[in-house]
Amino acid sequence: MHESFVGENKNRRKWIIIGIVGGIVALAIIIGLSVGLTRKSSGPSDAFERAKWILENNILIDGHNDLAWRILAKAKSKLNNVNLNDDLKKVWGNISHTDISRLKEGLLGGQFWALYVGCKQQYRDAVRAALEQADIIRRFIAKYPNVFEYATTADQVEEAFTKGKIASLIGMEGGHMIDSSLAALRMFYELGVRYLTLTHNCATPWATENGNENSFGLTDFGKRLIKEMNRMGMILDLSHVSVNTMKDALDTTKAPVMYSHSSARAKCDSFRNVPDDILRRVKDNGGVVMVNFYNRFISCNSKANLTQVADHIDHIKQTAGIDTVGIGGDYDGVDLTPIGLEDVSTYPKLFAELIRRNWSDEDLIKLAGKNILRVMRGVEKIKESMANDPVIEDQVEEKDLNMTCRTGFEEAIS
Ligand SMILES: *[C@@H]1O[C@H](CO)[C@@H](O)[C@H](O)[C@H]1NC(C)=O
Ligand SMILES: *[C@@H]1O[C@H](CO)[C@@H](O)[C@H](O)[C@H]1NC(C)=O
Ligand SMILES: *[C@@H]1O[C@H](CO)[C@@H](O)[C@H](O)[C@H]1NC(C)=O
Ligand SMILES: *[C@@H]1O[C@H](CO)[C@@H](O)[C@H](O)[C@H]1NC(C)=O
Ligand SMILES: [Zn+2]
Repeated sequence: MHESFVGENKNRRKWIIIGIVGGIVALAIIIGLSVGLTRKSSGPSDAFERAKWILENNILIDGHNDLAWRILAKAKSKLNNVNLNDDLKKVWGNISHTDISRLKEGLLGGQFWALYVGCKQQYRDAVRAALEQADIIRRFIAKYPNVFEYATTADQVEEAFTKGKIASLIGMEGGHMIDSSLAALRMFYELGVRYLTLTHNCATPWATENGNENSFGLTDFGKRLIKEMNRMGMILDLSHVSVNTMKDALDTTKAPVMYSHSSARAKCDSFRNVPDDILRRVKDNGGVVMVNFYNRFISCNSKANLTQVADHIDHIKQTAGIDTVGIGGDYDGVDLTPIGLEDVSTYPKLFAELIRRNWSDEDLIKLAGKNILRVMRGVEKIKESMANDPVIEDQVEEKDLNMTCRTGFEEAIS
């Protein structure tokens, strides 16, 4: 204590010097950081370089890709014979839109891989075929662990992206695959399925499909199915359904919905696209419309280009707001793709076009992935809020099913 008293003056000078030096260092750090941050938030000025820089730093999630169906069609689902590291355009021709090197070039960060079974299989082997598609998807994710990472929640999607992997989710394209069974739907959820498109191009006993516009939308069973989807945390996908089904579903759901691969009907009057009044309802619901690139849904004919896809995106933004638009390319599910958006390697070109249209970074980030992640979190929250609700055990009546290929219930005889 004495010694410090004696050296008080010396000490004070020392602290002043330390203070000045410390102040200079702190100032330098602050200036350095802010210069660094400004540089980061300004990014490259060339539109294409800037698009790539944005997608390298922010997740791009596509709502719909049919690679699993392509593997079925081209390789009879024998995944052992398929190498996704190959240039699959050389192996399968230009009809192939997806392989690992093109996914990397396209800077894709997350994908809902579509689980698809044709409508002809309804009432017959649709459930088995759906299980086989789920098997293919789970297996190709597992086969390339440095490329893909299986994900079922928004948090897992973001975690995969931070590790530089493509977050890989499963979406089921068509209600005919659950064969009107809520129990089957619950088991598909357990297998990782996170969205159900209520119909494909065929009605189910409880929902009508796109183009079937003059009949009912959802039956009472269909509405209870929506409730059960809300309870289990399955996203409701309204691509492929009739407008009446869209309306009934939006009236019934508590959770935000998605369109996994549909564009704007005002730009191309196809029944696969979303009318303006429904776009506004999706906005109110907090949902997202992920724009399909298929030529026939973009230009309504066989030729289309990137500019026209950007027009659909701009239209949805203008009609329903920036929080309502996303990307759902439908790659490998279509036979024609627009000039400029030929395959999964081309996403940055689309973002470059939107940059040239003066889209802000924040708007591009929402389009790329922020909007669908918000929908996923909204669905997860509703699931939590319904955790104590009973499981819905309703069944479709036999008279509403095609019983040709069924035996119905039999007593065990052993
Ligand atoms: C595939 O696409 C390329 C580039 O667009 C084109 O040059 C080629 O002719 C196409 N091949 C076939 C078989 O269509
Ligand atoms: C895309 O197609 C539209 C309609 O044919 C045309 O007006 C437009 O110039 C095309 N864009 C490009 C970049 O070729
Ligand atoms: C983008 O902004 C610039 C500068 O404000 C303006 O000159 C240009 O016309 C805008 N382009 C579009 C497509 O809005
Ligand atoms: C029921 O299914 C069988 C076998 O798929 C088919 O031949 C028949 O046309 C179907 N009947 C109805 C009414 O859809
Ligand atoms: Zn489809």
